Amino acid sequence: MNILKLYYEEALRTFRESGGGEEDFYWLVGSLLARYPSYREELEIRKRLMEMITDEVKGKVLDVGCGTGVLTFKMALKNGVEMVVGVDRKEEVIEFCNRLGDRVTKNAKFVQGNFLEMGLDEKFDSVVFSYVLHDFEPEPFLERALEVLEEGGRVIVGDFDINDLRKRIREFARWKGVKIVKGVTVGRAESHGDLREAFLMVVERL
Ligand SMILES: C[S@@+](CC[C@H](N)C(=O)[O-])C[C@H]1O[C@@H](n2cnc3c(N)ncnc32)[C@H](O)[C@@H]1O
Repeated sequence: MNILKLYYEEALRTFRESGGGEEDFYWLVGSLLARYPSYREELEIRKRLMEMITDEVKGKVLDVGCGTGVLTFKMALKNGVEMVVGVDRKEEVIEFCNRLGDRVTKNAKFVQGNFLEMGLDEKFDSVVFSYVLHDFEPEPFLERALEVLEEGGRVIVGDFDINDLRKRIREFARWKGVKIVKGVTVGRAESHGDLREAFLMVVERL
């Protein structure tokens, strides 16, 4: 199944239903195409990170800040993954993902809310932060992730090393007595106005 093709069709339908015309469409897409050369490296690395994150997850998965849900669906289609819950505070992306829903898989569900405040009824074997933590103080997110994690479960972070994110995750792990079982540099690209290293980090709750 080509998830991205489904995405494209649904996005176009949503765009038209919301009153978007041809001119708006070309303007919107054109602005992305014009910036593509400078974003190419970053996009390539983000794609690689998505593959690597998908390799790491198992059981019940929580995708925090799922955004467009591409990674959420990708993980939900993986063997060994029971189900994935995608959480995002933006209503429109959750609505969009739910519209695609069962057409991709029944193993993914999407919930709108602020991860730091919302209640969750279940615990997870894997909690994923893909390209989310660099914009925030990571500690409250990591703390909440440990609370919703099963014993032996893992927090998987794929991101660019912005605002000392990697160092802060290491310090958090030391402080909480949890183990970093994987930490790899995935590449370098211009992101947020500077050359940054991208990394994958896996923290295990014993
Ligand atoms: C840069 S996007 C990353 C999307 C996706 N994970 C990816 O890899 O492409 C960050 C997403 O995190 C969401 N987000 C930020 N803070 C959040 C919070 N406290 N609770 C839930 N979602 C949050 C934003 O709404 C946004 O959709």
